[in-house]
Amino acid sequence: MTRYAYHDLLPPQAAMLDDVLAGLARTPKRVAPKYFYDARGCELFDAICALPEYYPTRTELAIMTAQAPAMAAALAGDCALIEIGCGNSAKSQRLLEALQPKAFVAVDIAEEQLRASCDALSRGFPRMQTIALRADFEQAVDLAAACLPAAQRRVLYFPGSTIGNFTPAAARDFLAHWAPLLGAGGRALIGVDLIKDAARLDAAYNDAAGVTAAFNLNLLTRFNRELGADFDCDAFRHRAFYDAAAGRIEMHLEATRAQTVTMGARRIEFAAGESMLTEISCKYSIAGFEQLARDAGYATLKCWADAGDQFAVFLLGLD
Ligand code: AVJ
Repeated sequence: MTRYAYHDLLPPQAAMLDDVLAGLARTPKRVAPKYFYDARGCELFDAICALPEYYPTRTELAIMTAQAPAMAAALAGDCALIEIGCGNSAKSQRLLEALQPKAFVAVDIAEEQLRASCDALSRGFPRMQTIALRADFEQAVDLAAACLPAAQRRVLYFPGSTIGNFTPAAARDFLAHWAPLLGAGGRALIGVDLIKDAARLDAAYNDAAGVTAAFNLNLLTRFNRELGADFDCDAFRHRAFYDAAAGRIEMHLEATRAQTVTMGARRIEFAAGESMLTEISCKYSIAGFEQLARDAGYATLKCWADAGDQFAVFLLGLD
């Protein structure tokens, strides 16, 4: 028996082909990071989260374990929680225990993980109404509106520093876009990776075991399988670096030699050394993120960080 409602709102595969081709037609070439998360990509991402160099996951999980009761106290009362990018839901577990929301809407692009998470959470919290939405984040706002019960405080939960995948301007617009849905008294709980020394950041995206490289290169395997492309995965290499001026990590796939790739009806030329941007991961100072939130119309009500100021969870509020 299913204990949760499931809605698949992802656009059809043809939309992925068009979107990837459009990104590869740009200069410089780029691909949206949402395409990382096929089944293999989810596995590799879980492996990244367990790497010694990748501090964000364990740091955020420790903050959630220690502070979930304080977060629940600050959110007081009945609420509907909407989580975007719920992944394997380890953090949601902590929050749900403390918050005991009436309703929980989980949004993710990866079907298997979304189902596994909602299955486990709906068993663990049988009185909670659980709704799974398979969608990308841009779609999620309007969709969540349609399935949310009224009359409860609406809380957006966006963990993992996934907000870092947006540029700061796009992150501000994204938060602003949620404001009408969250409504008066609405709240947002956002996990944000903080600016720190470049060596630590570089290492987190260039792990010694090569898991991040495999995660990045898996995009090509996926495009070959699902979009009928013919990328030679050995002719591309993973490149990630911290751009301190921009405050962000950039991940690229770099062509090690000149080559032509076929995808759909299109031929895509790569010069030797040419790269496609596959992900940005923006890092913030506490004050910088507070400013971004203010620009989006939210007040920062509280901020929980670890002792080393590696990672922070912000509680934002709408009047
Ligand atoms: C899931 C987007 C937060 O940017 O750190 C991890 C993804 N990419 N290693 C991040 C990722 C390479 C991750 N986010």
